[in-house]
Amino acid sequence: MSSFDYSEKIPNNVNLADDRTLKRALEQWQPNFLSWWDDMGPDGSQNFDVYLRTAVSVDPQGWAQFAHVKMPDYRWGIFLNPAEQNRKIHFGDHQGEDAWQDVPGEYRANLRRIIVTQGDTEPASVEQQRHLGLTAPSMYDLRNLFQVNVEEGRHLWAMVYLLHKYFGRDGREEGEALLERRSGQQDNPRILQAFNEPTPDWLSFFMFTYFTDRDGKFQLCALAESSFDPLARTTKFMLTEEAHHMFVGESGVSRVIQRTVQVMNELKTDDPARLRAAGVIDLPTVQRYLNFHFSVTIDLFGADESSNAATFYSTGLKGRFEEGKRQDDHLLKGQTYRVMQAHGGALVEKDVPMLNALNEVLRDDYIKDSVAGVERWNKVIEKAGIPFRLKTPHKAFHRNIGGLAGLKVSPEGRVLNEAEWAAGVNQWLPSAEDRAFVASLMGRVVEPGKFAHWIAPPVMGINRQPVDFEYIRFN
Ligand SMILES: [Fe+2]
Ligand SMILES: [Fe+2]
Repeated sequence: MSSFDYSEKIPNNVNLADDRTLKRALEQWQPNFLSWWDDMGPDGSQNFDVYLRTAVSVDPQGWAQFAHVKMPDYRWGIFLNPAEQNRKIHFGDHQGEDAWQDVPGEYRANLRRIIVTQGDTEPASVEQQRHLGLTAPSMYDLRNLFQVNVEEGRHLWAMVYLLHKYFGRDGREEGEALLERRSGQQDNPRILQAFNEPTPDWLSFFMFTYFTDRDGKFQLCALAESSFDPLARTTKFMLTEEAHHMFVGESGVSRVIQRTVQVMNELKTDDPARLRAAGVIDLPTVQRYLNFHFSVTIDLFGADESSNAATFYSTGLKGRFEEGKRQDDHLLKGQTYRVMQAHGGALVEKDVPMLNALNEVLRDDYIKDSVAGVERWNKVIEKAGIPFRLKTPHKAFHRNIGGLAGLKVSPEGRVLNEAEWAAGVNQWLPSAEDRAFVASLMGRVVEPGKFAHWIAPPVMGINRQPVDFEYIRFN
């Protein structure tokens, strides 16, 4: 068939060279993956040499090798964190038993579903971001976009490895289906709604990598606790890559803000119209984008009361964030947790069994974590002497999943009637006009060291290279 040497070209620590079944499955899947990348990967980028890091092993030196490579030649690898000797299950009904090195028959369907749902988000985000390269604000940013894209590709590999290795024929079929669904497509969309939303501009991209890749972090952290040891070890390694994605988002938004406050001070104005005329993104628009991405992302944690969440925990498939650091019985039976509901026009809290509220527990942990970065953005505004502050909206704002779905709630948490919502929505969520304005700023700036007008340069380059390094050779 092809001359591709799978064990050679796929960096791995799963002994691929000696695993004939796995090799055969990958021989089928890998060409389809490449044609998916051709169709749905970054637009027009096939021939670029991009300064990318590639994981070639799991030790600190090996997971970040930098070199210029063409993305279709990227060495998507398969890595698991090293095994922990005699690892025990540390939560749920099997607590104290040996961690599973194989999939227990009775949990097979649920584990497959968890892996497929995670796996589906990885190619989805590549699809969502595929046109952004055409409007990159700098060569540095373009390189970061491509880095995120190839690593999401590798995350897909990580999940497909588990499907191929542990789920036989069903796993191979799921591996194919992961390449067939398409973000935003009517008849065969991606599984989770946030991954069907377009990422039309770079402000959206930075917000997405800040908020939605952080959802990835929390899901991966919960799976890193799993009793199914290969899943725990795979997701632990994926987390090392996720940190960079969130950095791209946090620093990207921070640089947008920095440029805006600089122009605000130069012009001595906070008038959005004047700032827009000066070619920067006014802070209320940044706030509206934040509101949108935050609310769409917290929906990803699922319904606030969920019997599936209880089952996944009790059977040991998916833990809580930092399960190992928590000081409780790790069974949670008879315990309760507060979830929010609307009752007679007001938001009220009610106690529900903790096990059924584990989606909400993870969502609340996520919310705490995401607020910290918003405070760092506020520091940039504060340092410029400007009284404006960004804020994450109320948890009940603009929700589409769970008990709060469909309620009309202001970003401050006030329950509204239809008329009040309609009167306020354009101050709270990006309007068509906001999106058109942000789109109007997007133009391609790719000379080394040059940056689009609406964004400040980063403080330093990638891998200690200068900011004006030639991160991409267009050929
Ligand atoms: Fe990912
Ligand atoms: Fe990511």
